[in-house]
Amino acid sequence: MILVQISDTHLGFPGAVDPERALERAVRQILAIEPSPAAVLVSGDLTHNGSPEEYQRLRQLLSPLTMPVHPLMGNHDKRQALREAFADHAPLHNGRETVDYSVDCAGLRLICLDSCKPDSDAGQLLPEQLTWLRAQLEAGAGAATMVALHHPPFPCGMDQFDLICLPPADRQAFAQTLEGVRGLEGVMCGHIHRPIVGRVGTVPAMVCPSVFLQSQLNLKPQGALRLIPGGVGLAVHIYTPGQPLLTHIQALDGD
Ligand SMILES: [Fe+2]
Repeated sequence: MILVQISDTHLGFPGAVDPERALERAVRQILAIEPSPAAVLVSGDLTHNGSPEEYQRLRQLLSPLTMPVHPLMGNHDKRQALREAFADHAPLHNGRETVDYSVDCAGLRLICLDSCKPDSDAGQLLPEQLTWLRAQLEAGAGAATMVALHHPPFPCGMDQFDLICLPPADRQAFAQTLEGVRGLEGVMCGHIHRPIVGRVGTVPAMVCPSVFLQSQLNLKPQGALRLIPGGVGLAVHIYTPGQPLLTHIQALDGD
């Protein structure tokens, strides 16, 4: 089973690099994967400003995809506009404020957590979200499961992003929620615009690159944030029952 993850599409971003062309390119590349992926996860910052027009354009650009698309809230997204644009995606309409939901992807459970704090680029995970997550994990009874959230639940070592990440207490509470859960195959994130491998307790964790712009590596204290063209890609997660999850980071072809 193949699950493709794309991230940080930022439709509506003003600048020299066109996010629409970047997403078109990613969609073409997803359609070229054989066997065909079972689903596509879009791990947040779908739009840059969260406007209904940007979400409408996003849906148009994603429309060639024949498999289910599961969106995740990012700090640039707006909950109401996202839900309106994905009116046909029933799990998003959960009756709660935060867009947390779980779906089955051909044998792999995907649990999507809304790590966004309204009007802030930093993240948050509310206690009630973690209670919901724990219940979902326990309901899985050891079934293979992937947890996805936009903000990585670990510091990435780049100050400019670690200032807009999940607070340490929330990261710790998240790690405690995952502790001892059987069947957890990985934690998948976005936000940083570059591929990063980390860990939450004993669970592998990964940041998927953006399909649009990558962030330049800058490990200096208080280093500046710079988004640059190139180096973009998508993550191809491969799950075979009884085997550990595999992830390929696939660079996006040029036009
Ligand atoms: Fe982003």
